[in-house]
Amino acid sequence: MRIEEQDGTPVRLTMTQADDWHLHVRDGAMLAAVLPDTIRRFGRAIIMPNLHPPVTTVAAARDYRRRILACVPAGTAFTPLMTLYLTAATTVADIDEAAASGLITAVKYYPAGQTTNSHHGVADIRECDRVLAALERHDMPLLVHGEVVDADVDVFAREEVFVTRVLAPLLADFPGLRVVMEHITTAAAAAFVRAGPKRLAATITAHHMLLNRNALFDGGIRPHHYCRPLLQGEEDRKALIAAATSGHPRFFLGTDSAPHARFAKENACGCAGIYTAHAALELYAEIFADAGALARLEGFASHFGADFYGLPRNTGTVSLVRDVSAVPQTVSFGTGPGVPFRAGLNLQWRLVETLA
Ligand code: NCD
Ligand code: ZN
Repeated sequence: MRIEEQDGTPVRLTMTQADDWHLHVRDGAMLAAVLPDTIRRFGRAIIMPNLHPPVTTVAAARDYRRRILACVPAGTAFTPLMTLYLTAATTVADIDEAAASGLITAVKYYPAGQTTNSHHGVADIRECDRVLAALERHDMPLLVHGEVVDADVDVFAREEVFVTRVLAPLLADFPGLRVVMEHITTAAAAAFVRAGPKRLAATITAHHMLLNRNALFDGGIRPHHYCRPLLQGEEDRKALIAAATSGHPRFFLGTDSAPHARFAKENACGCAGIYTAHAALELYAEIFADAGALARLEGFASHFGADFYGLPRNTGTVSLVRDVSAVPQTVSFGTGPGVPFRAGLNLQWRLVETLA
């Protein structure tokens, strides 16, 4: 990694090519419209399976992978890492087949009804104990969306309650299961992961480190800041920055970039999901630079995720320069306009396009 400074301020950084360990790219016209933003910045991405219908079989994942690769220009190296969506109908045979296929990197648990396209999710993950045992046996990671579904639990407390009520017993009962707690949002989750075993890791989004929950109600209701799990309070935001910039190898980059058409967000029942793929690395660079920890960005963005998944680190490089640029008010999501994170505002870092 190389950081160039001017008058003691970092102005350019070159590091190992990064990966996105949690990403939604959708399908069809939207896939074609949003994927280039990710390809430009990342070598690999863990592709979330919450399509309609969800990707629950190896055959469906193989087809989806083909549709993704059809959007990758010839001569460009980008590897989609496929996942299966855990449902109550997932069988041990499905997991055996997934492991044997060499095509599936991980299995994703969505708590039923908590987020976009999660109505096929499982209300109580312990209904899937036999499947979890199969994952453990194959050493295939379980990726968890860590929110409990109980209506009596406050919506801002659902992650913290998930950690104690669901995740801690799960890790104890499956002592070999590798788990990634996706898009953590609280100090409690960060502390739990830090104190946890080596087989437990977490991804952290840029938006959860850049905004606290006040951003949901800044002068009025702000649907483009609505995602699940929700933005949290300022102490939690600071704890996430501390975790990400600590150099701890079990915290790594996952954008959870989740495009929704503008009309689906600006709606009486707006969808959860924030689109950050257009500026993902730039936003993380800003966070790390502002924390005085730019030297630790490479580990978080380019090394630790690959190490956890047991994959080789990328060999290419990526460069960013400190340079202010404006984010457009809307971008095309293929089927219509979408509103990107920071719409109408500035980015502090710019990706240096490399010639293929
Ligand atoms: C995601 C989506 O839109 O698919 N939304 C979100 O708010 N993060 C689903 C998810 O990851 O929870
Ligand atoms: Zn997600």
